[in-house]
Amino acid sequence: MVQVRPVSSLAPGRPPVADTAGTPTVRVRRVRLDAAFDGLDRRLTDDLISSHLVAALSAVFPPGEDFFVRSVRRFRHRIADPGLARVVQGFIGQEATHSRAHDACNARLAELGYPTVGVARLTDRLLRLRERIAPAKANLALTAAFEHVTATLAELLLTDAGTRQRLSAPALKALLCWHALEELEHKAVAFDVYRTVGGGETLRILTMKAARIGFVAFIAAATLVSLCRDPAAHRPGALRTSWQTFRRSALVGPEVRRRLRDYERRGFHPHQRDTTALEAAWRARLDAGGETLDLRGAGAPAA
Ligand SMILES: [Fe+2]
Ligand SMILES: [Fe+2]
Repeated sequence: MVQVRPVSSLAPGRPPVADTAGTPTVRVRRVRLDAAFDGLDRRLTDDLISSHLVAALSAVFPPGEDFFVRSVRRFRHRIADPGLARVVQGFIGQEATHSRAHDACNARLAELGYPTVGVARLTDRLLRLRERIAPAKANLALTAAFEHVTATLAELLLTDAGTRQRLSAPALKALLCWHALEELEHKAVAFDVYRTVGGGETLRILTMKAARIGFVAFIAAATLVSLCRDPAAHRPGALRTSWQTFRRSALVGPEVRRRLRDYERRGFHPHQRDTTALEAAWRARLDAGGETLDLRGAGAPAA
C-alpha cells in the first residue's frame, strides 16, 4: 500500500507561496483513444446510482477542464517564474487531453442512453455565463478549488482498490486512473498561479465553500435526471437496493468530506498532502506500456 502523508514542513498557518522548487515537470502523455470506449456497456459500475454518477462526472469534465484552461491562460503573461511557467504549460496540455478523452467516452455514453450531451452543454453555458460576470481572478479561484476536488477524488481512486474494482469496464477504469494520476501531478498548478497573481485567502476559501455546495447539487441533479431516464431504475426496489450500496461507498464517506474541507483552512497549500510516492507508483504502472497510453482494454492498467 502506497503511503500518503501530510507534509509537516508546510505547517498550517504558514503563508502559502508558489512552491515550484523541485516540482517535477507536468508531462503530457499521448493516449490512444480510437475506439477505446466502443466496448462500454450501460452498466459502468457494480450499482445503478454509481453508474449514473460516473456518467454525470464524465459529462462535466470536458467543459469544466476547458474552463480551467481558459482561467489559467488569462494570467499566463503574469508568470515570471520559469518553473511555474513550465508546469502551467503541462497543466494546459494535460487538461486539454483529459477533455478530449472524456469527450470520446461521453459520445459512447450518449449512445448508451446517458444524457452526457445535455449535461455537458448546460455545464458549458453556466461556466461561460460566469466568465462574463465574474472577475478573472474569481474564475481562477474557482479553478483552484475544483482542482482540489479532483485531486481529492483522484487520491481516493488511486489508493482504494475497492473503489477501482467497482468500475466494470477496463477502458473506463484506465481512463479514470490515468486522469486521476495527472490530477495529482498538477494539483498545485492553478493554486500557485492564483497565489502568484495576488489571489487572497478570503476569496479562495469562500469560493471553495460555494463551489462545494454548487458542485454537489449540480452533480446530484444531473445524476437524478439520468436515473429518471433509465428504465432499470424504475424496476421495483432497484433504487433502494442501489442506495444501500451507494451510501456505504468511500466516495460519500467522512474522509472525502474532511479532505475537501481542508482547503478551507487559512494557510492551506495542496503540497501539504504528500502524494509523491502514490504518483510515482502509478506513473510506473501507466508508463510501463510505452510512450503512448492505450486506453483500450488490452493496454489498460490492471486494478
Ligand atoms: Fe483533468
Ligand atoms: Fe486538473
